[in-house]
Amino acid sequence: MNTKYFYLNTIGCQMNVYDSEQIAVRLATLGYEQTAAMDRADLIIVNTCTVRAKAEQKAFSFIGRLAKMKRNKRRLIIGVGGCMAQQEGQKILERMPCVDLVFGTQTIDRLTGMIQQIETRRCRIVDVHMNDTPEMPEFIKDSRPDNQVSKFVTIMRGCDNYCAYCVVPYVRGAETSREPQSILQEIQMLVDNGVREVTLLGQNVNSYGRKQNLVTFPELLAKINEIKGLLRIRFTTSHPKDLSAHLITAFRDLNKLCPHIHLPVQSGSNRILKRMNRKYTKEQYLDKVAKLRDTCSEIAITSDIIVGFPGETDADFKQTLELVKTVEYDGLFAFQYSDRPHAPSVKLPHKISEPLKRERLQSLLDLQETITKRKNKALVGSTQLILTDGLSKKQVSGEPQSTGQALQWTGRTATNKIVNFNVDPSAADTESLPGKLVGVRIDKAYSHSLFGKAMNAEPSDGGLKGVENYAA
Ligand code: 5AD
Ligand code: SF4
Repeated sequence: MNTKYFYLNTIGCQMNVYDSEQIAVRLATLGYEQTAAMDRADLIIVNTCTVRAKAEQKAFSFIGRLAKMKRNKRRLIIGVGGCMAQQEGQKILERMPCVDLVFGTQTIDRLTGMIQQIETRRCRIVDVHMNDTPEMPEFIKDSRPDNQVSKFVTIMRGCDNYCAYCVVPYVRGAETSREPQSILQEIQMLVDNGVREVTLLGQNVNSYGRKQNLVTFPELLAKINEIKGLLRIRFTTSHPKDLSAHLITAFRDLNKLCPHIHLPVQSGSNRILKRMNRKYTKEQYLDKVAKLRDTCSEIAITSDIIVGFPGETDADFKQTLELVKTVEYDGLFAFQYSDRPHAPSVKLPHKISEPLKRERLQSLLDLQETITKRKNKALVGSTQLILTDGLSKKQVSGEPQSTGQALQWTGRTATNKIVNFNVDPSAADTESLPGKLVGVRIDKAYSHSLFGKAMNAEPSDGGLKGVENYAA
């Protein structure tokens, strides 16, 4: 039998990255092999996002390219999955005649059956069925070789928060948490395969387990912290209203929990926060930030902010800038508001013009850049403990080096900052560096990364947390 190939394009968030891996494992059971060469594929799947208008445009333009390919390759099967598939359903088949399959966010367990039907009957299928009490897709172990140091692990799906701008509750469905045992087993399996860091994923991990009366999120973290061989634990995303005192103390008590929290504020104006249905005030948010810093002084805090939410005045936006100056985030994802079908804010009056949104976005990004640069500069001269991911992009792409013979590696600080660094090839067993913790002296700071030199010849395996634990 000839090998069949599939090509998988993932757009959107980390949860889609995780889902794509689970899609890939299932396709392998049908005899498909993954390829990075799109023109070789017999099956192309695009896992889509719809959180902002731009992501949706990206998916449609990619499907447009596929339509051209299919003219010369009639047997090519094209599947569209994920959040945009859930939102648009049948409309995708109508708008895009090249598409054979539209599968929603709760259909991964039915995917192989649908592909088989299309293979044999050349039919077109739409399955965007959603359950009121969604079930977690069965986790299937990937036996294909994979040398990644860091992996995502989905611990819950869906969202019950209904922020006014957000489409997620409508396209991902109701919040459901995964059984702790299943999560622990998956992480153990990853660690056995060489993974050293996991990032736990959920739309709002702070409410993990609450609805189904499982363990709480801090309790789950404590269990994961026990897994031998795992060095670092991260998680995303946290809704500020549900950030508990117990979770704050976990940053002090759990040695593997990285001192970084992504705590999206969305706006610095109480009036806008109310219109967004965020259920906290700026004051309550700042209070939690202060508590986090009191408990864990080194903690890095990052955030999401939407500019130009309907009705946002200059005064509201100024308050967002003020909040950013007060908190001094380590990093910020800033977005121009975009109307999403289903999201309640579509109906809100006083929409902000595109040029004004652009202008606000730019001033917010400019402000954050000065803060990030200042924070990064403050690290120059310090020694940071880096979990090595692998060779840096520059090294992989074979660009000439400016620093003699030393190889350039890449990894992250516990606070999630990217650090590229040189290792003297004679000083360490560089083959085994990926997955190891290395003490790196920071020599240079840029806007989005740091650069330094490895100081300890022997990489460490220990589950150390941050700078203060490492004796250079
Ligand atoms: N417009 C702009 N940004 C949005 N986000 C979510 N919905 C919208 C929207 N309609 C942003 C929020 C969220 C991040 C993932 O995307 O900041 O935290
Ligand atoms: Fe995009 Fe949100 Fe869906 Fe993730 S969950 S793919 S960010 S719409």
